[in-house]
Amino acid sequence: MRLSSLPLLLALAAAPLSAAEPSGPDVAAAAQALQPKVLAWRRDIHQHPELGNREVRTAALVAAHLRKLGLEVRTGIATTGVAAVLRGGKPGPRIALRADMDALPVTERTNLPFASKATATFRGETVGVMHACGHDAHTAILMGVAEALAGMRASLPGEVMFIFQPAEEGPPDGEEGGAPQMLAEGLFRDFKPEAIFGLHVFSTLHAGTVGYRSGPAMAASDRFNIVVKGRQTHGSRPWGGIDPIVAAADLIDTAQTIVSRRQNISRLPVVVSFGAIKGGIRYNIIPDEVELIGTIRTFDEGMREAVFADLRNVAEKIAAAHGATAIAKVPDTRGNPVLVNDPALTARMLPSLQRAVGADNVVQTDLNMGAEDFAYFAREVPALYFFVGATPRGQDPLTAPSNHSPDFFLDESALDVGLRALLQVTLDYLHGAPAGG
Ligand code: NI
Repeated sequence: MRLSSLPLLLALAAAPLSAAEPSGPDVAAAAQALQPKVLAWRRDIHQHPELGNREVRTAALVAAHLRKLGLEVRTGIATTGVAAVLRGGKPGPRIALRADMDALPVTERTNLPFASKATATFRGETVGVMHACGHDAHTAILMGVAEALAGMRASLPGEVMFIFQPAEEGPPDGEEGGAPQMLAEGLFRDFKPEAIFGLHVFSTLHAGTVGYRSGPAMAASDRFNIVVKGRQTHGSRPWGGIDPIVAAADLIDTAQTIVSRRQNISRLPVVVSFGAIKGGIRYNIIPDEVELIGTIRTFDEGMREAVFADLRNVAEKIAAAHGATAIAKVPDTRGNPVLVNDPALTARMLPSLQRAVGADNVVQTDLNMGAEDFAYFAREVPALYFFVGATPRGQDPLTAPSNHSPDFFLDESALDVGLRALLQVTLDYLHGAPAGG
């Protein structure tokens, strides 16, 4: 494919791209020419998944590809991250495009011919490894976009940084990683983009569709840990101690009012969920303490901090009302911040998404309660992060195996859709497409 696609790309480079923004068909033709390669990369990466901060093979594949395109490549950023800048032949804006490369500790259950058989050690256990979140597709798509843009380099206005990021799902225990670590290691020190774009494939949308949402789009995700300390006693003599189980039950009950009574959920939703309760060993012993862990999801930094304060307050005051004490680590671990799509940038690029895949195939999505560390980039630079449907037509996206499932299945037409959408957005931005409707 490399040789046969070259004339087309050269033709595209010579086409009147400099005079006007590239038309839909140009992008479609470039995407079509690259499709066999993108498919092959995706399948290869899918068959050889690697956990966060261990994306050695994937990073090497990406780096070799970018070097072959004639780019200067930085490797080893945030352990295994790769970045390269393509400098167009004409002056213009600086932008960045980002893909994530990591897989998950999931044992694949699909019967695809290129299904993963890989295993790795995760938290001391041997686990299956699978691209159950579609990051294989993201990596392959961005490799394709890089090749398409490199083929148009002479007529391209501006500069594009390609970011291949490790550990989006979080680094292994005790390690740093992901988007915040790439930024901490100076990713944007010498190259500050004025906009950044990224995409994610999701089972919740049909293949062929692109989803977007202006403003807050994906949740901040934070963990909490609360230990309610009482005083151990015989189950027959509760007055001989302090019962942390009843205090914990009361605490969980009252914590429900943070969402239902205290936060303005008419503006943005909030979720407070307890995921585990641990306390006690025997039917007739009231234990010394109870541990509660859970997650908080918010879409606004102010609400995020307010919920932290509310839950700490509930934990401490309710425990005190029972004569117990609470050690409330809220948050215990600060997770990804809210992912906010810049409203002006989203409005400006929406016509590009519509042009790339057809207006009928672009839908505004609900708020996504999941979290995504692209949010860290979006805090630095105006960002647009959009969603690409993965579920085959004829299957219900509501019941299709979701991202992170061992049965997660990507309709490979999503590769073409993702490539066209990202390429169109990139070219339109670089060529100075005017603000959209
Ligand atoms: Ni993901």
